[in-house]
Amino acid sequence: MALQNEMYRRLLGPGWARVDPARLESAVGGRVVLVTGASSGIGERTAELVAAAGATVLLAARRGDRLAEVAERIAARGGTAVPYPVDLADPESVDRLVAGVLAEHGRVDVVVNNAGKSIRRSLADTVDRFHDVTRTNAVNYLGPVRLLSGLLPGMRAQGNGHVVNVGTLNVDLPLAEWAVYSASKSAFEAWLRCVAPEIRVDGVATTSIHFGLVHTPMSAPTYHPRVPGLTAEAAAEVIGRALVRRPRLLVPWWARPAAALANVAQGPYEAAQARVLRMLRSR
Ligand SMILES: NC(=O)c1ccc[n+]([C@@H]2O[C@H](COP(=O)([O-])OP(=O)(O)OC[C@H]3O[C@@H](n4cnc5c(N)ncnc54)[C@H](OP(=O)(O)O)[C@@H]3O)[C@@H](O)[C@H]2O)c1
Repeated sequence: MALQNEMYRRLLGPGWARVDPARLESAVGGRVVLVTGASSGIGERTAELVAAAGATVLLAARRGDRLAEVAERIAARGGTAVPYPVDLADPESVDRLVAGVLAEHGRVDVVVNNAGKSIRRSLADTVDRFHDVTRTNAVNYLGPVRLLSGLLPGMRAQGNGHVVNVGTLNVDLPLAEWAVYSASKSAFEAWLRCVAPEIRVDGVATTSIHFGLVHTPMSAPTYHPRVPGLTAEAAAEVIGRALVRRPRLLVPWWARPAAALANVAQGPYEAAQARVLRMLRSR
């Protein structure tokens, strides 16, 4: 698995290398870093990584018991982490999170917008489950926009900050049966692209990372562990490197040409997917 993970990482390109711990320490040491989705997967590993580099980490997700475990583990290793249970789909819960962290810490320097809801479902199966469309957009789009709308004024006023968005390759290469997930992640990306220049004026940087497969509880029901992908630890390292280098966008080297091709040849791109679906249905 370790070798497979390393080979997959090399396939993504040089921007996806491991982070230098000393450089991460100078980027986040002594800073207040909010990580959403810190109860599991990529967010949990990112919280551990930045806490080890000396940041005060604010852990946000719904499961308070899981957040408390992560905070205890971090404290046992000498780090500082504070759990903040929140449901991003609930606007009042998000407002309470913003008010709570600002009252208790006075500032937030970095937001890792990582919490997310994934949903792979055909259009036919979605029709009678519109609540899933609403909820996916609430978690992946509206909640993060509300959270950042509450935190960005402080970051702009202090004249520095960094927002790292944990995005997906589905934004570059939309796939059949991923419509609701892709649309919600794309909506947030569009919002971030529009506000990025506005907040950059005030010293706040933005980074979007478009991950392919990462083996976490989210991807486990869809992808066998042997399918090439990153581990959550490796994904956290990629986020750590982005915290140091602050690239505007991090995608695998082949994603831009592939996305350009899929855009230019939209008809053939969709026809190829339709052929696969037809084949699967006729089995
Ligand atoms: N895994 C992949 O292959 C992959 C690929 C590309 C992008 N991503 C993105 O990576 C991010 C992290 O996913 P993961 O793979 O690490 O999955 P994960 O292990 O399932 O983690 C998802 C996190 O989001 C939190 N969350 C879900 N709904 C929430 C809500 N309503 N309010 C607050 N927090 C909520 C979960 O915590 P609670 O359940 O405790 O609330 C959990 O901590 C997601 O944004 C996902 O879209 C993943």
